[in-house]
Amino acid sequence: MLRIGVLASGRGSNLQALVEGCAAGHIPGRVVVVVSNNSRSGALARAAGAGIPGYHLSGHTHPGPGELDAAICSTLQAHTCELVALAGYMKQLGPRTLTVFRGRVVNVHPALLPRHGGMGMYGMRVHEAVLASQDDYSGATVHLVTEEYDQGPVLAQCRVPVLPGDTPATLAARVLAVEHELYVKTVGAIARGEIVLPVPG
Ligand code: GRF
Repeated sequence: MLRIGVLASGRGSNLQALVEGCAAGHIPGRVVVVVSNNSRSGALARAAGAGIPGYHLSGHTHPGPGELDAAICSTLQAHTCELVALAGYMKQLGPRTLTVFRGRVVNVHPALLPRHGGMGMYGMRVHEAVLASQDDYSGATVHLVTEEYDQGPVLAQCRVPVLPGDTPATLAARVLAVEHELYVKTVGAIARGEIVLPVPG
């Protein structure tokens, strides 16, 4: 049973997909803790609803960046997390957390990386950029998290077509549906050892 810690800032639909994926047996694992920088996030509400310990850790609760990084890291360690899954987490992870969990942090991004990733590329901005580029396809990417925003090795991708008349909102909805599936499939493959994450060191 893989012990998964989830970091999320907003709505928490990817968190929900992971929780349901575990319950349905698609992931031989369990979401053991949820951390959010947003005390009013849907993610923390969903964690409470599922009986999963949730923590609000942010610049408000821990004003110093080093202090916050240490709090996030020790919370994940206290729950003996083996994998950290970012699910709409809008903050960059600190160096301590990244070092302790090196090679064990994954993220889902709502586009086909390396296209439309990097600093500032989140939410509707991603889908606006896809439409502005007149790409024929968009999709979702699950990748390893490194110090560089959205640049860690890609673990899995899934494509969806961009359709005539798409708005950022219609494209976002089409991508979100495949994100949920892809994240559950990929975390399931990690938990079963079918995707082998790099050994730190
Ligand atoms: C998703 O589109 C995810 O790819 C991105 O942020 C969004 C989070 O949505 N990183 P939710 O909070 O999981 O519903």
